[in-house]
Amino acid sequence: MTTPLIAGNWKMNGLAADLGQARALAAGIGAASPSARVVLCPPATLLARMADVLSGTLVLLGGQDCHDQPSGAFTGDISAEMLVDAGASMVIVGHSERRAAYGETDAKVAAKALAARRAGLEPIICVGESRAERDAGRAIEVICGQVAGCVASALAAGPFAIAYEPIWAIGAGLTPTPAEIAEAHAALRCALIDCAGEQGAAAPILYGGSVKSENAAEILAIAEVGGALVGGASLKAADFLAIVSVA
Ligand code: PGA
Repeated sequence: MTTPLIAGNWKMNGLAADLGQARALAAGIGAASPSARVVLCPPATLLARMADVLSGTLVLLGGQDCHDQPSGAFTGDISAEMLVDAGASMVIVGHSERRAAYGETDAKVAAKALAARRAGLEPIICVGESRAERDAGRAIEVICGQVAGCVASALAAGPFAIAYEPIWAIGAGLTPTPAEIAEAHAALRCALIDCAGEQGAAAPILYGGSVKSENAAEILAIAEVGGALVGGASLKAADFLAIVSVA
């Protein structure tokens, strides 16, 4: 079985004063030596300093997004190579907040995932349906279509992860039922094997959307749930450690 992956997405939160949370997380994980891999994805401004904080610890560093080109005239953007240079080993691509705010298509997300691979980063590729799509009975069709559009066969050459994040669950205090999560993850596994063969069979499928210490154990016990992508509850070391400890 693939080692579970617990990823913390700080989104646009975190100043230098919050690096103590990363320090506390690393200390807690060092003491507990959990069975999961753990990665923190801070805003870009904190990457290099957090790399220093996490150096020599069990906590990995990740970016929240990357451009698909290695360098060039792209004001405000950051390349996968730059993330590696700052000390990252993973990157989130295709988060629904970026799809919604920046119009990122599946083709764009696929290009970013391949850029991550080119630079030697492990991409965490996000998919998820809207409330309207779920209510219309289209959730499985939508998320499997996103996998088909975002997971290029070239990704099959190395490790990557998928995060299933229903848009309506993110930051909402709502989660799908365990049966709905199980159905989605089983369908995603089939879609991944179709797109990426053996690597698709091995890729962890994280669940994301209002994961908290109170619901983490139940969610992580569901078949084919290979970890969690955690937003709000990753900002405080104690909350995040409580999730990691049940993985
Ligand atoms: P949340 O965010 O845990 O705050 O719901 C998850 C995410 O958007 O990755």
